[in-house]
Amino acid sequence: MARATTHHVCSACGHESAKWHGRCPGCEEWGTLVEEAKPVAAATGVRGGGGKSSGRALAPVPLGQVEAPRVARLRTGIGELDRVLGGGLVPGSLVLLGGSPGIGKSTIVTSALGNLVARGQSALYVSGEESAAQVRLRAERLGPAALAVPIVAETDLEAVVATIEAERPDVCVVDSVQVLHAGGLTGAPGSVGQVREVAGRLMRVAKTYGIAIVLVGHVTKEGALAGPRVLEHLVDCVLSFEGERERTYRTLRALKNRFGSTNEAGVFEMRDEGLVEVEDASARFVAEATNGSPGSAILCAMEGSRPLLVEVQALVAPTELVPPRRMANGIDRNRLALVLAVLTRHAGISVGNADVFVSVAGGVRIDEPGADLAIALAIASATKGVPLGSNDRPLAAFGEIGLTGELRHVAHPDRRLAEARKFGLERVLHPGSGPATVGAALKSALAAPSAVRAA
Ligand SMILES: Nc1ncnc2c1ncn2[C@@H]1O[C@H](COP(=O)(O)OP(=O)(O)OP(=O)(O)O)[C@@H](O)[C@H]1O
Ligand SMILES: [Mg+2]
Repeated sequence: MARATTHHVCSACGHESAKWHGRCPGCEEWGTLVEEAKPVAAATGVRGGGGKSSGRALAPVPLGQVEAPRVARLRTGIGELDRVLGGGLVPGSLVLLGGSPGIGKSTIVTSALGNLVARGQSALYVSGEESAAQVRLRAERLGPAALAVPIVAETDLEAVVATIEAERPDVCVVDSVQVLHAGGLTGAPGSVGQVREVAGRLMRVAKTYGIAIVLVGHVTKEGALAGPRVLEHLVDCVLSFEGERERTYRTLRALKNRFGSTNEAGVFEMRDEGLVEVEDASARFVAEATNGSPGSAILCAMEGSRPLLVEVQALVAPTELVPPRRMANGIDRNRLALVLAVLTRHAGISVGNADVFVSVAGGVRIDEPGADLAIALAIASATKGVPLGSNDRPLAAFGEIGLTGELRHVAHPDRRLAEARKFGLERVLHPGSGPATVGAALKSALAAPSAVRAA
């Protein structure tokens, strides 16, 4: 029998075992053992320690004397993507682009490669998921630049690596990392061992030849699938493409970036001609806002380091259902529950026998505590049937609500206020604007329109 070239490693505790077990003998976690290629044993090492190392001693160099040639970044021509990357792709880096199915991952990488080729850079698109013909159909939608992108449809890792080494493109996209198959391992493509092996090989190719490689990866709803989580440590940059497939707006965020800030986010809209950058997202959302109707509040949110104005809508409807429904779209359900509890306890707004629906218009997801006050205002306004502000003088808000009903400060108040002012929203309710509690804020916001005008 041939000697096994693989072993099983626990992805939780690192325990190694020749055989596969359902439960790791090391940490007793279930289903964590994955097959991996055995590292080639170094024949020269001195075993057991104690003796002198046979390795060659290296001479440490002060960091200031380390040669670091400034390499120009490769601009993808998609402004929002370049910004999230920290100014463009870095040659020799490995970028992981994750996102749920159908969100537009292949679309954005195809347009980016098209733009790079149009600027004279060499590119390569490795499609493992779709046939070359399918990718061509998408490229037709994206315009002539995308049609110039060279493509290979292949899932065998060895063939892919050989192609990249032969072509030596400036930028290579692998769509997706889960479908590539490393011959040495028996695990199915997409299993932790396979994905790690594939990414490891591609990283060595990227560093050796200075090629920027973008790996496309799938994530499940929980974000827990084999791929991206395991890869996050390995790659230089992790981008996450979020949004709801049925809606048109999508956000691109950097979860990790060795060459730039992780505070940036880009907003895109899916159209016939592909993903279009939404440079002034606030303008779009404010223009669409239903100012003057009860249940609508404008929120000055932060998307990374960028302020973003979005509309929060609430609907409160009497119901016979017990317990009544609580639906949250674009905000966290737990935050909604907290805001409702504080409203009941500290502001006298009871929704015990009503369904409550809260949604952020446009399909944007807001994950920050600064949204609390706008959510509370929208619910209070919907419950009482009183609009916040008026058509020509809408009301904007931001601020966190504490459990005792107090308003708490949130990051970047000045940027949020500046963005509101840019769009003519002069009345902004926030912790620094006067009211100290959510009750006081509601009283001032739900005052009669004449009083609002005077304020
Ligand atoms: N003509 C069109 N107009 C507008 N949107 C379109 C059109 N054709 C496709 N789309 C959108 O593009 C999305 C598919 O994009 P894409 O194939 O880039 O996604 P993906 O993230 O690569 O998906 P997968 O995970 O399946 O590879 C579809 O969900 C659809 O919303
Ligand atoms: Mg795809």
